[in-house]
Amino acid sequence: MVLVSGTGTNLGALLEASADGRWGAAVVGVVSDRADAPALQRARDAGLPAEVVALRDHPDRAAWDAALTEAVVALAPDLVVLAGFMRLVGPTFLGRLGGRVVNTHPALSPSFPGTRAPADALAYGVKVTGATVLLVDEGVDTGAVLAQVTVPVHDDDDVEALHERIKSAERPLLVDVVGRMARGGWSTSPDNPRKVLLP
Ligand code: GAR
Repeated sequence: MVLVSGTGTNLGALLEASADGRWGAAVVGVVSDRADAPALQRARDAGLPAEVVALRDHPDRAAWDAALTEAVVALAPDLVVLAGFMRLVGPTFLGRLGGRVVNTHPALSPSFPGTRAPADALAYGVKVTGATVLLVDEGVDTGAVLAQVTVPVHDDDDVEALHERIKSAERPLLVDVVGRMARGGWSTSPDNPRKVLLP
């Protein structure tokens, strides 16, 4: 199950991987908080359920959180992947699904949390950034790290060029992590709950 807000190139990579039975996972549905997300069309083209649960269609955040949770739980996913989902999931969502919600973030966590990570990395002047696939907790990009990949920052980068370079590395990382979790599960190191071990 994949949650999206935007273009959906990460969703596209997961859909492509689904076509290969050896990957070990299959996307069962897509939910977006935005009716105009191009990612929704990718889901429909793949013949998958694609639902919109927009915050503004609900009286408050708690009602949206409950509706989002129901839309996801209805498809009984083993894993929930936030692939460019630009809102924080709420306590109801994490209460039902926590521990198996994965996010992909375009920075090397814990640096540059939030929705403007490539811009924040450029503004800071770092020479290396990257992407992080992490478990979701109640914080903003604070969950346990599953995998990371580094990406160089070039002197002449603008936000778009840097983000595209990050996304080129991010997509195969996300596909790899989701496949490994689906095939072999995951565990936490007994001496450090933040250290997640993948097969
Ligand atoms: C990805 O780079 C993802 O890491 C980022 O949005 C992009 C979505 O691209 N997510 C965040 O910044 C969440 N904090 P896509 O729609 O082409 O998959």
